[in-house]
Amino acid sequence: IVKSPADVMAEAMVGSTFVKNWELEELSNAASSGLEGRNFKVGRRMFAAGGCYACHRFGNQGGMNGPDLTGSGGRYSPHDLLEQIMYPSKEINEQFVPTFVTLKNGKTLSGVVVNLGGNRVVLNTDLYDPNQRTSVQTNEVQSMGPSTVSPMPPGLLNMMKEEEVMDLLAYILSGDDPQHKFFK
Ligand code: HEC
Repeated sequence: IVKSPADVMAEAMVGSTFVKNWELEELSNAASSGLEGRNFKVGRRMFAAGGCYACHRFGNQGGMNGPDLTGSGGRYSPHDLLEQIMYPSKEINEQFVPTFVTLKNGKTLSGVVVNLGGNRVVLNTDLYDPNQRTSVQTNEVQSMGPSTVSPMPPGLLNMMKEEEVMDLLAYILSGDDPQHKFFK
């Protein structure tokens, strides 16, 4: 059974419900006054609840389908981090650009090419399940090229409250360090 990002999220967030369709500006303004006094445990819980571990390595845990986020503190301001999370397709990390395949019958697929050779193209189209494979015959393919849509789903913050998002940002930017100045 292939779980959609929404299912994974819903399972992890049992007890929580949709909060709102966050705008970048709202959260960015909240973060701009500083991330001091945040809660490490809640941040870590949000990282799991948001499904981030499914695709990202952080510290010694997590998947490898997306970039390792451990060093984020040295790379992003809170605003830039929020933008990466909320608009994953705006700037797709070049090492993780999926391939978009259009078939002659009009169907389309997007995923990571795991095998290209002989007369088949084999893709992983579900990053939540790295073992999932979709295979198509080369002679069914109309065109293939880099996708403009990130494999990372948008809207992952929409089941979090503002305070929870702030704890998540502090957690990511701390690099999993409970002693970081962000935490009380
Ligand atoms: C289904 C897999 C998946 C999930 C779930 C996911 N991501 Fe991603 N994420 C990716 C992939 C793949 C990329 C690289 C492509 C891109 O830049 O959009 C990425 C990129 C990023 C980047 C930019 C990193 C860089 O080096 O460019 C950040 C920051 C990020 N994700 C944070 C998160 C956070 C925080 C969560 C949880 C709330 C999350 N992601 C959930 C797959 C995922």
